[in-house]
Amino acid sequence: MPGLAAAADPITPAIPAAATDQVVVLDYGGQYSQLIARRVRECGVFSELLPHHVGAAEVAKRHPKGVILSGGPASVYADGAPRLERELLDLGVPVLGICYGMQLLALELGGRVEGAEVGEFGRSQLTVSEQGRLLAGTPHEQTCWMSHRDTVFSPPIGFTALASSTASPVAAFESVERGIYGIQFHPEVVHTPYGQQVLTTFLSDVCGCDRSWSARSVIEEQVERIRAQVGDGTAICGLSGGVDSSVAALLVHRAIGDRLTCVFVDHGLMRKNEGEQVIAAFRDHFHVPLVAVDASNRFLARLRGVTDPEEKRKRIGAEFIRVFEEEAGRLEDVRFLVQGTLYSDVIESGGGTGTATIKSHHNVGGLPQDLEFDLVEPLRSLFKDEVRAVGAELGLPERLVWRQPFPGPGLAIRIVGGEATRERLDVLREADAILQDEIRKAGLYRELWQSFCVLPDIRTVGVQGDSRTYGNVIVIRAVTSDDAMTADWARLPYDLLEQIASRMINEIRPVGRVVLDITSKPPGTIEWE
Ligand code: XMP
Repeated sequence: MPGLAAAADPITPAIPAAATDQVVVLDYGGQYSQLIARRVRECGVFSELLPHHVGAAEVAKRHPKGVILSGGPASVYADGAPRLERELLDLGVPVLGICYGMQLLALELGGRVEGAEVGEFGRSQLTVSEQGRLLAGTPHEQTCWMSHRDTVFSPPIGFTALASSTASPVAAFESVERGIYGIQFHPEVVHTPYGQQVLTTFLSDVCGCDRSWSARSVIEEQVERIRAQVGDGTAICGLSGGVDSSVAALLVHRAIGDRLTCVFVDHGLMRKNEGEQVIAAFRDHFHVPLVAVDASNRFLARLRGVTDPEEKRKRIGAEFIRVFEEEAGRLEDVRFLVQGTLYSDVIESGGGTGTATIKSHHNVGGLPQDLEFDLVEPLRSLFKDEVRAVGAELGLPERLVWRQPFPGPGLAIRIVGGEATRERLDVLREADAILQDEIRKAGLYRELWQSFCVLPDIRTVGVQGDSRTYGNVIVIRAVTSDDAMTADWARLPYDLLEQIASRMINEIRPVGRVVLDITSKPPGTIEWE
C-alpha cells in the first residue's frame, strides 16, 4: 500500500542469520550511511545498517563477517559524541572505519586525532604511499571525496599509514594482524572512483565474504521465510499498482501460491489504463487470485462538493479502508496481511541516531495498524532499487517495475481548488497520459522522480481558429529527486514541452492553456495539494 508506515523496528534482523554472508554497517549519523549499506550490497554482500548504540552483542547476533563504522557529523571531541564500543573490536571479524569511524578507531587505539585548521570538503587528491592490503591495486595518485574537519595526524602504534591528502596527513591506515582498517575518504560516493574497489577488497579479501547476495538469492531466501511464517495459512494483499506492493505480492504468491488473494481497489482516481495493467499482469499473466473492485462511484460520491485537500485525503483514506475490509471479510480465515514495507521505512521509523531525516508518511491509501492480521513484510530488508531488481527477476512487466511514485489519493489531489468530478478527472487523466507518453518517448521517464499534470480549478481565455475559447489550464510538473524529501524541477527540453503542450491542446477539447511549474522543493512541495 502506498506510504503505509508499518510497525517497523530497526533492530530485528532483516534476514535470517547465516542465510548469506553479511556485514553490519554501524550508523554514526553520517549522511552517507545508507549509501554505504547499499554499496556493500552492490558488491554482492548483504548488509544491515544499525544505529551505532545497539551494542556489540546485537551485532554479534548477525554473525557478520565484518563491521563497517560509518561517518558522522560530530567531532570525536564534542560533548556527547558517539564513542567506540571496544567489544566491537573483540568480535573476531575485520572492522573498517570510514571518516568519523576511522577517527574513532584512531582515538580509541592511541593514534593522534586533531581538529585541522581547514576542513576538507568535496573532491580531494589522495596520494597512496603504500597500498597495503586495503588499497591493493589502486593507483599512487587518485581522486577521492572528503567531508571532515577533524583529521588523523598519526596512526595508532602498530598500524601502517597508507595514504595522505593535502588536509589529511593520514587518510588511510591498517593493521592487518588486528584486522582493523580506516579510511578518511568516502568510498561509497561516485566521486571516489576507486571507492567500490576498496569496498570490494575489504569485503572479499579482508573479510572473506562470499559475494552471492543477489536479487535471485533474495527471492529464494524470502520464499523460504514466507513459507515458514505463513505455514498453511492464507494471506491477503492490497495491490496499489506500485512496485512495492506488486513485488511483495509476487514473492508471497511464489511462496504460498493460491493461498494469497490480492485486492485491487480501483477508486477511479488512477491514471489512464493503470487498473487494466495491474489486472492484466496479476490475473492474466501471473495467475494470482485477484479481487478487482471498481469502487469509483463510491469514491466519487464521497468526494462530491469537497474542495479542501486534507478533507479529500481523509475521505479517500476512510473509504479505502471500508472497501478493503469489506473485501477481506468475504474471504475465509485470512490471518496474514502482506505489506510492501521497505528497508528505508524500517530505518526511518526508528534509526535512533538522532540525525536521520524522518520521512513524513502519507497514510492515505494505506491501512490502519490495528487490523487484526499478522504482517508479512518480504521487502523489509530491501532498498527501493533492490525491490525493482527483484521485481524484474520475478518477471514483473517493465512498466510496473519502473513506475514512478503515485500518491494514494491519486488524481483527486491534483485537481486543485476544486471538486474532483468525473469530467475533470477525465481531462486530467488524458493530459497525464499525453505527458507520460511523450516523456517515455523522449527516454526520460526513469530519470524523473515524478512527472504529472495538475488541473487547477480556473479557466483562461484563448483563441482557436477564429473563435474565443475559455478553457482549462494544465500544469506540467516534473521533478528529479532521490527520496522526495527535496526535489528539483526538471529541465525538460523546450521542444519536448512544445510537443506536449500542442498535443494536449489539440487532443483534449477542454484544455486551452498549458503551463510549466518551475518550483523546487523546498520551497514548494512536489504535489500541489
Ligand atoms: P510532497 O507533495 O509532500 O510529496 O512533496 C512527497 C511525495 O509523497 C507523495 N504524496 C503522497 N503519497 N498519499 C501518498 O501515498 C498522499 O496523500 C500523498 N501526498 C503526496 C508525492 O506524490 C511525492 O512522491
